[in-house]
Amino acid sequence: MITAVVYSESGGTYKTTMTANIAVALKRMGQNTLVLDLDPQEGNLTSLFDVGERRGDPDADNLVKHILDMPDGDFHDLIETTAEGVDIIPSHDMLSDFTSNLEQKISYETGMQNMSREEYPRYELLYELLWNKQELHDEYDAVLIDPNARAEDLLYNAIFALRTLVAPVKPAGKGNLSLEGLEELVGNMESQLDIEIGLSCVVPSGVGQTNAHRQYQQQFEDTEAFATPVTIGNRESLMDAMWEARGSAFKVIEERWKTFEKDGKMVSEPGQRRVRDREIETLQKLYELAWFIATDTFDADVNPVLELEIQDHKKKIINLREADTTEVTTA
Ligand SMILES: Nc1ncnc2c1ncn2[C@@H]1O[C@H](COP(=O)(O)OP(=O)(O)OP(=O)(O)O)[C@@H](O)[C@H]1O
Ligand SMILES: [Mg+2]
Repeated sequence: MITAVVYSESGGTYKTTMTANIAVALKRMGQNTLVLDLDPQEGNLTSLFDVGERRGDPDADNLVKHILDMPDGDFHDLIETTAEGVDIIPSHDMLSDFTSNLEQKISYETGMQNMSREEYPRYELLYELLWNKQELHDEYDAVLIDPNARAEDLLYNAIFALRTLVAPVKPAGKGNLSLEGLEELVGNMESQLDIEIGLSCVVPSGVGQTNAHRQYQQQFEDTEAFATPVTIGNRESLMDAMWEARGSAFKVIEERWKTFEKDGKMVSEPGQRRVRDREIETLQKLYELAWFIATDTFDADVNPVLELEIQDHKKKIINLREADTTEVTTA
């Protein structure tokens, strides 16, 4: 089973877009994939995929209620299926109050059971829910989490449950520092949670053509400390269009979504985007990233062939094993 938390200490390192793209790539590889959105803020995976209609309704059943073992309904009713076939448990506003709700539960239960607060397994609740209560390993081949790095209790629950991290990093003046920070943090979490945490890979993203960025990329590719299977370029136009297409970068290109000015207003429409080699290459890299996580980190048997059905265009077939691209004329 493939399980990964897409983690970064800093904000805006393309975690949410990357989670969506890895999830859709895994789904295209034949993996039944579930993503959990643990970020209650705007611009999360839930808004990207346009799900979670009741995320602001305090009466609606939601993941927090299930993690705290006070569900208001069936766990499976929380799951929605996106247009691209990935399943998602959407975010809910209650995620913002997770810690205070958890503290109340701990006070109550430790009081009843004559147990100290320190003994309470506060980071093991999501693990218990996903694997022991719901036995999701019987249902899914892959589970990914987009966490909220600032919410320690939820983040630790996510890491305790999934055990493996994928770390996107963005070129910045202190790029290296943040990676040292990552190693230290993984070490701290391991001792605090008393588990082993695996770092699947680091993914430099938003890397441009400047010398500083190239040097940055080189540093990552040269290091022995962790795997860097791919580097994702600066693809603002492609990734921003995901928020209009309500789906992955694969969807943006296949449906040819583009944002442009029309009669003095910005609009986003399908069927407009030019097909660019460098963007197709980015899709291949995203597919390679998912392939690396699936095969190298988890030893899973997945389909290495990416088929792109681009609107009004020849079908493209990219086989990662053969590393070539074939164009097939579609009817
Ligand atoms: N490779 C890329 N190059 C340039 N821009 C990108 C790239 N990937 C994503 N973006 C854009 O960067 C913005 C931030 O991305 P995203 O929301 O995925 O980051 P995040 O790490 O989840 O942020 P937060 O910490 O707020 O949750 C989005 O507008 C997205 O479209
Ligand atoms: Mg995010």
